[in-house]
Amino acid sequence: MIEIRKVQTANGRRISMFLQSQERRVIDAKNLTLFPALIDPHVHFRTPGAEHKENWETAAKAAIAGGVTTVLDMPNNMPACYNRERFEEKKRLIDEQLKRVDIPLRYYLYLGADEHHLEEIASLASEIAAVKIYMGSSTGDLLMNNPDALDKAFRIAAENDVMIAVHAEDEKLLQTRREQYAGETDPAFHSQIRSSQVAVQALQEALSLVEKYGTRLYVAHVSTVEEIALIRKAKYKGLPVYAEVTPHHLFLTDEDYASLGTKALVNPPLRSKADAAALWDAIEDQTIDTIGTDHAPHTLEEKTKPFGQAPSGFPAIELYFPLLLNAYHENKLTLAQIISLTHTRPQEIFRIPRNEDVVLVDLETVRTVDDAELHTKVKWSPYQGKTLKGWPRYTIASGRLFDVQAL
Ligand code: DOR
Ligand code: ZN
Repeated sequence: MIEIRKVQTANGRRISMFLQSQERRVIDAKNLTLFPALIDPHVHFRTPGAEHKENWETAAKAAIAGGVTTVLDMPNNMPACYNRERFEEKKRLIDEQLKRVDIPLRYYLYLGADEHHLEEIASLASEIAAVKIYMGSSTGDLLMNNPDALDKAFRIAAENDVMIAVHAEDEKLLQTRREQYAGETDPAFHSQIRSSQVAVQALQEALSLVEKYGTRLYVAHVSTVEEIALIRKAKYKGLPVYAEVTPHHLFLTDEDYASLGTKALVNPPLRSKADAAALWDAIEDQTIDTIGTDHAPHTLEEKTKPFGQAPSGFPAIELYFPLLLNAYHENKLTLAQIISLTHTRPQEIFRIPRNEDVVLVDLETVRTVDDAELHTKVKWSPYQGKTLKGWPRYTIASGRLFDVQAL
């Protein structure tokens, strides 16, 4: 049994509580605030095939340090996770790695959509978090840009009550624009190549298939004013559409290319201040349902290659909660909104069973991000040097107490 004494709740009450556990621990939580543990619906933990960037040993520590006890992992691995055999093998490797660090991280896996393996959707329906469709290419080789295959995937998913998660960037338009900007060496052109129109075109196609089949659709990393308008309209119509935003599209903008250079590359790209403001508004009116970190580590060596060779993506999971708690102190979010975005909505949308996992936070701790202290294997972040107020202190996962300062 773990006894948590006199903890503050997010709505300002003070309670004591007991959690089921093999351990007998008493935590004096007078200075701490209680949250349900976070669910991160969008991570790339890199197993199998890119374990030099991350694995589940380092990633599990990063997650727990960030107050996250459930993750939903993307299928763009090497090899890509698009059939039962690869799905089972991936789970086996993950379980082995989690066992090695003895961390009971809860996880669900996305199935990658591949036009030659769409029958796998029905067979794995009850075991997967959702089907992930890359409408435009990103890291890895998963891509679905054939309209007939896309139509079929949305139909099969609807028939099996499986959700589709889309990376909505239109491959054809992307290729055209890449050619237009060929030879440019400034990484800021990434945001021009992968323009708002690239995202909008793909999203419109996905939404028309939702209208056709009623497929549940999770729009990953929404990043523009225009996508928000489309999703808001789809929700008004009563379509089963859900939207995710990443920390980097909330807290970084295209002005950050100046200091970050190729490290700022991410897909979809960093956007304007006006886009970021629209995302904050969309949190306010609940057009945005969830925050997913899109934790997508690449080594610093890879990230600092010239534009054109450097890969896209940021590590993020451990700073996800501190960034949001800091935003609370800046009056951008309420604690209730944080709980909804990081726990309640992901739980509802992905139909994740309830559990007792919690995180105890010291809302008053002020710390400056030091990349060297991060648990992610790649030991860098786009937030180096930022001072944040509000940090997790203890994470309790499946009755196991983790002191985040001792991981
Ligand atoms: O920036 C990104 N990185 N976007 C993606 O879609 C994939 C991710 C990765 O896996 O590196
Ligand atoms: Zn992603």
